[in-house]
Amino acid sequence: MHFLFEILETTDGADMTKKLTAIRCKPPTEIEDPEVDVVEDQSLEVAEGPKRIALQCENEGCGEHISKEDSLSDKCREVEGKFLCPACTRKVGLAGLAMGGYKILKLIGRGGVGAVYKAEQISTGRFVALKVLHPDVAQGDTAVKRFQREGRTGAQLQHPNITLIYEQGTMQGKPFISMEFVEGESLHDLVVREGGLSQARAAQLLAPVADALFHAHAFNIVHRDLKPANIMVTRYGMSKLTDLGLAKSLVDPTVQVTAMGMAVGTPGYMAPEQATKANDIDHRVDIYALGATLYHTVTGRPPFTGKSPLDILRKSLSEEPAPPTQFNPKLTVQFVRVIEKAMAKDPDLRFADCREMADALAEFV
Ligand SMILES: Nc1ncnc2c1ncn2[C@@H]1O[C@H](COP(=O)(O)OP(=O)(O)O)[C@@H](O)[C@H]1O
Ligand SMILES: [Mg+2]
Ligand SMILES: [Zn+2]
Repeated sequence: MHFLFEILETTDGADMTKKLTAIRCKPPTEIEDPEVDVVEDQSLEVAEGPKRIALQCENEGCGEHISKEDSLSDKCREVEGKFLCPACTRKVGLAGLAMGGYKILKLIGRGGVGAVYKAEQISTGRFVALKVLHPDVAQGDTAVKRFQREGRTGAQLQHPNITLIYEQGTMQGKPFISMEFVEGESLHDLVVREGGLSQARAAQLLAPVADALFHAHAFNIVHRDLKPANIMVTRYGMSKLTDLGLAKSLVDPTVQVTAMGMAVGTPGYMAPEQATKANDIDHRVDIYALGATLYHTVTGRPPFTGKSPLDILRKSLSEEPAPPTQFNPKLTVQFVRVIEKAMAKDPDLRFADCREMADALAEFV
């Protein structure tokens, strides 16, 4: 999940707590469903409406009664052979529709910036991951243009450990990108399933990610939202970085930091300077986030936990994470040193670049 922070007041000299309370969090749950209006726009090549009438929702575990009127309206849809009630139809978002040259198969996940669907590109038959941005996130023409420009930059990246970007466009006014569909699971889900990994396995998965970041940084692309959920692990055990360049496009560069700034990132993985000096950051925020990701991968838990995103953010600014050996006693001193160096609060104390970090990690493979 991403979080958007609107930093309302970041004047220098203000004490940290003041700065922090000035940060307004917008958790994804507060963002309204982006897809509710989907079938209303008749100008689009929206797929077939309800093909048949059902008086009960056929979604597993629902069984909600459907009025005949709703059943005949656009509020209900048949998805994968099941007729859905209005609530379930809303929940599946764009699934079951065809538009923009894609057959949208199912919702894979929702983050703070939008929804990701598995889709089939009709012309080629290949599967893609379709990321449809929430209109609240990419507001107005300039934001959409910025998103598209960043997408173009991201599309130049060709690296075995970076998810390929195929196409970008708009669907019903919402910007989307289609990218390589990675068959597998996110590193986040992998760690939930298996618990903390051994340092050798973590290094094997993350050294290539460090290499991928080094490549992106050479193109002046800073990820800004690196975390286990943005690393996909294929069924062959290969790791692939997703969402490169996307976070930057959500930050308005014309907004002055001292007056008002925007930071996009995820508390716990976000470098301290990213939260406090949103517009004045460099590639080293990714080094920090990779350190935090490494921590999570070997311990099975994020470096900072708290009651709320703001609480987590506050801790990441002023506290050190619990020693990773507390959760994984097999970690060597040298490995812990890599995590600590990457997660140094002062960017000058981190690895100078991702090449250096990739080399350090390769030692443990
Ligand atoms: N290219 C992809 N191929 C397959 N699944 C993907 C791809 N990109 C994202 N996903 C899945 O969709 C989920 C939601 O992605 P996203 O909206 O970026 O949110 P977040 O990264 O915050 O979890 C991810 O956690 C991942 O499981
Ligand atoms: Mg993501
Ligand atoms: Zn239902």
